Amino acid sequence: MSTETRQIPLSSPYVDERDEELVLEVLRSGRLSLGPAIDRFEELFAEKVGAPYAAAVSSGTSGLHLLSVIAGLGAGDEAITSPYSFVASANCFIYEGATPVFADVDEQTLNLDPAAVEAAITERTKAIVAVDIFGYPCELDPLRELAGKHGLALIQDACEALGAEYRGATVGSHGVDAVFAFYPNKQMTTGEGGMVTTHDQETWRQLVSLRNQGRADGGGWLDHARLGFNYRIDDIRAALGIGQLEKLDTILSLRQRAAARYAELLAGVDGVEVPLADDADHLRSWFVYVVTLDREVDRERVIAELAEQGIATSRYLPSIHLQAYMRERYGFREGLCPVSEDLSRRTLALPFFTAIDAGDQERVAEALAAALA
Ligand SMILES: Cc1ncc(COP(=O)(O)O)c(C=O)c1O
Repeated sequence: MSTETRQIPLSSPYVDERDEELVLEVLRSGRLSLGPAIDRFEELFAEKVGAPYAAAVSSGTSGLHLLSVIAGLGAGDEAITSPYSFVASANCFIYEGATPVFADVDEQTLNLDPAAVEAAITERTKAIVAVDIFGYPCELDPLRELAGKHGLALIQDACEALGAEYRGATVGSHGVDAVFAFYPNKQMTTGEGGMVTTHDQETWRQLVSLRNQGRADGGGWLDHARLGFNYRIDDIRAALGIGQLEKLDTILSLRQRAAARYAELLAGVDGVEVPLADDADHLRSWFVYVVTLDREVDRERVIAELAEQGIATSRYLPSIHLQAYMRERYGFREGLCPVSEDLSRRTLALPFFTAIDAGDQERVAEALAAALA
């Protein structure tokens, strides 16, 4: 690679002076945690996604863990989830001793196939953790129906899907408990952080207690009603979250525009499939731009050729059940979820972020086309 080649990163946060001001205000206020910025962040977030209650937490993972605790998941229980996801969507209930059951995904949406979920239900099933992978909303209505019919908890891992819509309504507004995440590669960031939205006041009460060491409403600092965690966010992060939320519409439309640009640039390129387009029921919120390479393409060679030109890519996503600790602990092997495993071999994330330069996207598309020629 020539020393002049400018690197194009995989992702990059979108932070401006307003964010700096809001963070500085908190730093100068002396209230760095358990202060008013958190309440304000939660209010704004709940309003944005159309949920009556929101509880800010330290990460998406901690939010998913808390919902697993509230669902009462424990040893002897099974939870059905997607193999084509980030590990946290399965780890969250393993922490409580529950067993993961992986149902395969749909090869178009890359999300849980409700028929596969139904086939995986047993007498021990207690929950479904459905993921909106790459910001494409999961099949919420069929999954809710299954959960209702079999008396299961349904947890929506919307960590990648802030701003997505399912059947005309924002993810978070459907009545299902949902978790969002704010790591710096996400649509909006707080550095580290997450948010749980719920339509149930009692669930919200438990969330705010569990994230705060099990302290009870109205109790003292050293009174603990239940076994809790320190999964709090702080006011510094919450202030950044407020700044990010204020410009979320702009962020989402810039990302939408960047995705449309890639789709146009890659339209005539053989050997690669662009992400599934929206339809009447699904409006994606653009988190990453993941393409699927044809089966005969050597993905490692493509990655190497792009890297030669200073272009970062990533193998999104390995199938969770084939991770070393999953194989060791549960004996999962190849062939359990063939659709997910096939996708895992062929999908590739390209550089994608809110302020990505149009010229850089052209460079990426040209380099990809050359690698595939
Ligand atoms: C699908 C999914 N679930 C859960 C998480 C966990 O979020 P966090 O990294 O904030 O713990 C992420 C983010 O990385 C994610 O993409």
